[in-house]
Amino acid sequence: MTRPTSETSAFLAALEGKAPSRRPIWVMRQAGRYLPEYRKVRETATFHQMCSTPELAAEVTLQPLRRYDMDAGIIFSDILTPLAPMGAEFDFSQGGPRLAAPLRTEAEFEALRVVEPREELAFVGQAIELVRAEKPEVPIIGFAGAPLTLAAYLVEGGGSKDFRNIKALFYSRPEVGLALLDKLADQVIRHLEMQVEAGCSAVQVFDSWAAILNTHDYRAFALPGIRKIMDGVAHLGVPRILFSKGGLTNLPWLIDSGADALSVDWTCDLRDAARLAPDMTFQGNLDPVVLHGSEQEIVRRARAVCRAGDAARSHVFNLGHGILTETPPENLALLVETVHAYRPEV
Ligand code: CP3
Repeated sequence: MTRPTSETSAFLAALEGKAPSRRPIWVMRQAGRYLPEYRKVRETATFHQMCSTPELAAEVTLQPLRRYDMDAGIIFSDILTPLAPMGAEFDFSQGGPRLAAPLRTEAEFEALRVVEPREELAFVGQAIELVRAEKPEVPIIGFAGAPLTLAAYLVEGGGSKDFRNIKALFYSRPEVGLALLDKLADQVIRHLEMQVEAGCSAVQVFDSWAAILNTHDYRAFALPGIRKIMDGVAHLGVPRILFSKGGLTNLPWLIDSGADALSVDWTCDLRDAARLAPDMTFQGNLDPVVLHGSEQEIVRRARAVCRAGDAARSHVFNLGHGILTETPPENLALLVETVHAYRPEV
């Protein structure tokens, strides 16, 4: 099956630093509970069943692509999905993800197995193939969590207020922490390879907890794994996006991580980012809560993000973090329209 290219896709053109035909847009968590058609599927299946059943995962991946003129899709899965075959299965039934027995000891980390995703995560590849068959012209993004974010979930056993356990690991047994991060990086590389083989046109690594470390520790602990991943997937020849939530004092090192594009949140002005990294594509960074504002403000603030994005080599419009469950779907329609109608001032 032919894949979208930078000739046919504004999203891929922007990621390659070429002039896109329009400002591309997709939004993080675009397949989700804010869509009534998602909630309808979700009523019939658990989140885990949705992720592991290719037909259901493909269906909800396609929903935002049918409803909106999105420039990319993201495969419906979770950053925690590859951890289950490794030996750490999260429970999503109580709201946020929970691991019954958080991993704390070196022996527990060593017991995690790096698995072959073509076998143990084949359902992800099958979902990608189904999506590609219905929307061959739309680039599909494959993704994984960054090692630091995955390690935080494993060691904390879920989200956390203070990230006491993962940080205490780094501050007491740094070499054990680094070995865990390195193993997770190996798994992420394999998982991204499988997703690109199945038909993904770009990959995104989510470092949602980048801001829990000071910048020195971020360089020491988080960056080696990210670099390993970016180098490890370079041979696939698809653009690599790194999403870093908060932690933007790390920007100088993120630029050097090997990523082709940086996805930033709303605390970062895209003009400042572009000044630091003139050769990089930026993705972002509208505050998702703007979609809860008035129509006038949605339009005004979306245009302001586009204008700031003009300072970058190229810009992929996105939110600064995932779309919220309570978002009125018609406000996302307005956003997509506004971004596509935007033309840079010459
Ligand atoms: O549309 C998409 O973006 C694709 C699917 C996707 C999901 N999770 C689906 C999901 C993606 C890319 C993710 C990434 C993810 N998952 C991240 C990184 C991005 C970020 O938000 O910072 C993280 C930290 C997770 C872990 C996770 N999964 C949490 C904290 C939660 C609970 C919070 C919530 O939104 O419910 C999940 C569950 C989850 N992942 C849902 C979805 C649609 C909700 C499941 C449901 O329907 O009940």
